[in-house]
Formats: sequence, C-alpha cells, structure tokens
Amino acid sequence: MKRFKIWALLALALWAATAAQARSLDEVQKSGKIVIATEGQFPPFNYFQGAKLSGFEIEVAELVAKKMGLGVEWKALGFDALLAGLRQDRWDLVIASHGVTEERTRAVTFTAPHYCSGGAIVSLDPAIRTVADLNGKLVSVQTGTTYLENVRKLSGVKEVKNFPQDTDARSALVSRRVDAWVTDKFVAAIAINANPGAGMKLGDFVFIERIAAAVAKGNQSLAQGYNKALAEAMTDGSYAALSKKYFNEDVRCK
Ligand code: ARG
Repeated sequence: MKRFKIWALLALALWAATAAQARSLDEVQKSGKIVIATEGQFPPFNYFQGAKLSGFEIEVAELVAKKMGLGVEWKALGFDALLAGLRQDRWDLVIASHGVTEERTRAVTFTAPHYCSGGAIVSLDPAIRTVADLNGKLVSVQTGTTYLENVRKLSGVKEVKNFPQDTDARSALVSRRVDAWVTDKFVAAIAINANPGAGMKLGDFVFIERIAAAVAKGNQSLAQGYNKALAEAMTDGSYAALSKKYFNEDVRCK
C-alpha cells in the first residue's frame, strides 16, 4: 500500500512537470512576443489578403500587443482547433470572433470583448427574414460556432447543414443548396456588398453575443495585461479609428 502511494505520487509529480503550462504575462513579456492563433477565413474580422493575415481582429490584436510592448507571431488554423490549442499551450491567445458562452467559459478564460454582434439570417428569398420564416427550411452554418448551437435550438428548422468554413456555408446559400445562412451580422453585410449579383438579403438577428479573445483557462495575468491595453485603445481613439475603417461605425459593446 505504502509503495503504491509513493508510485502514485511520483506519477503525479511527473505529470505535473510535463503538462503544458500556459505562459504568464511575465514570461510572454520576457520573450518579447505573443503567439496568437486565428482562423483567417472570416472576413472582415480575420482573413488572408494574399499571404498576409488581415482584418479588424488582426489589427486590434496587433494594436493591443503593441501597447503591451510585444510583437506578434501569428498562427492560422481551422476554427475547431483554436480553443483546444490553448490548453495544449500551442499559443498564448486566440482571436477569431468567439462569442462568450457558458460552455466555452468552462474551458478557457475570455478577455474583455472587442466587439458586440450577433448571428443574423441571410437569404436569397425576401420571404425568409425572421426566425419564424425559418420553419421547415434548410439552414447553413459554420461547424463549431454559436450559429450552429443557436439554430439547432429552433425547433421548426428542417435541417441545419454545417460546414468547416463560414465561406462554404455562404456558398451553400448562393448555390441554393440551403434556404438561409446564419452568420455574423457584419460578415453578412460585407458579403452582401461584395457580391451584389448574388441576391443575398440580410434578415433579423437570431441571437446577439459579445465577442472576445481567449487565453488558457486561469491565465489571469495575461488576460489582465491584454484587457488593460485594450481599454487604453478604446479610450485613446485608436480602436475607434480601426472600427471606422472596417465598419464605418463603432462596434464596441455598449
Ligand atoms: N461568433 C461565432 C462563434 O462564436 C462564429 C465565430 C466564427 N469565427 C471564425 N473565425 N470563423 O462561434
């Protein structure tokens, strides 16, 4: 029995020593750069302009990092891999339009929100505008998103088709494989403007959400350092300038 306890303790110590440990604010600052993961397929928030990551969130994160005295090393991955990688300490922070939900809050620590928005209905049929209009309809959404979660809750919807990328969910609508696409309101507005010939129309919100970056669960020092710098950007006009550039309005949570 005694021997068993010793082995159990040793095993535990070994596990603790090898388990991925999130880098604290101090450690990140000592290294001079923060490793940030995003998706890169969600314009205008995070997308590729040629080989370069661009978008509102990319610029917000770079602005915040600069105020923290840090350079940024970017990683781009599938949406599904992003929050899981925080637990494995593969990157320090994720910024990819994640809505703050109870379920996600159990797995990661969210920062203060960098914008407020919601999932909205997009359709080619002017008769499909409201949640009630989705009754008996096929709806496309991106896998792993709050759009999927919230559309699933609508009992009248005939079927929710999910796609690894939001742009594929959009294509499904444009090619009439579904009746409606549910996505972020600003993503929808920009897709509609960029493809005037497609005939997409913006309908009502299905739900609203606060969008924030995330760090590994319990990495309070890094979250606080980020929040302080974000708050500065929100008061000194630099956040407002970025928001105006991308949306022609201020998208911060009111
Ligand atoms: N706001 C939605 C969510 O919280 C969608 C985010 C999608 N982000 C992306 N980079 N594709 O799940």
